[in-house]
Amino acid sequence: MPTSLPGMRIGILGTGNVARALAHGWQRVGHDVLLGSRHPTERGDLGLPVAGLGETAAHAEVLVNATPGTVSVDLLRGIGAPAIAGTLLVDVGVGLSDDYAELSHPNDSLGEQIQAAFPKTPVVKTLCTMDSAAMTAPGDLEGPSTVFLSGDDTEAKRTTGRLLADLGWPPSSQLDIGGITTARGQEHFALLFMGIANGLGSHVFNVRVVPRAAGAGVS
Ligand SMILES: NC(=O)c1ccc[n+]([C@@H]2O[C@H](COP(=O)([O-])OP(=O)(O)OC[C@H]3O[C@@H](n4cnc5c(N)ncnc54)[C@H](OP(=O)(O)O)[C@@H]3O)[C@@H](O)[C@H]2O)c1
Repeated sequence: MPTSLPGMRIGILGTGNVARALAHGWQRVGHDVLLGSRHPTERGDLGLPVAGLGETAAHAEVLVNATPGTVSVDLLRGIGAPAIAGTLLVDVGVGLSDDYAELSHPNDSLGEQIQAAFPKTPVVKTLCTMDSAAMTAPGDLEGPSTVFLSGDDTEAKRTTGRLLADLGWPPSSQLDIGGITTARGQEHFALLFMGIANGLGSHVFNVRVVPRAAGAGVS
């Protein structure tokens, strides 16, 4: 399985459920992870290294957006385009209303907005179609499942694929669905995600893309 080089410097914007899960997942395989917070001095109890947003961006070879999708673009603007130019940005964010019932980008996506606002920063959207518990423990699910990648930059998607492999997602579970415009499909899945979670009685599940069986349909 192609994994990334050990000891990559990964900066994760946010200190919530997703940020912490990903930080532990990548720390386990030897990456150098730093969380970025608006209030770093108040986050000393996380047991993870935390710095300000700008310092985290400066640390990062790979920057991960794990902040609310409603504010992510503004937070990144605060860091500044020059500070993240050329840095791979892995975007896990989704913009949702407080009750998770409505998308904040109904005819658009956060991934596309970030890419448009920061054209020198290759953006890859991934992992946002599942709960944070599944992101870092795909092996705890009943059987293999699918993680999607959207982005315009081939090399950025390759590096993201390796970082996904580090979390336990083999290449056979990774599905590149196209350019950054396809981030819209990943983000809009959030509505179906909530419905499935309600029906299942749990947020910890994932979907698996099942192609037609070989030979099926041949008469
Ligand atoms: N939870 C999931 O399972 C899941 C699954 C798929 C996608 N996502 C998406 O991933 C992103 C992160 O989700 P999460 O569950 O980790 O969220 P969360 O627990 O609410 O954490 C978000 C973090 O973002 C930072 N932040 C920066 N600006 C903020 C603001 N104005 N309001 C609130 N927090 C702000 C906060 O860190 P500081 O206070 O330290 O700055 C906070 O800890 C969201 O876009 C979410 O839609 C989440």
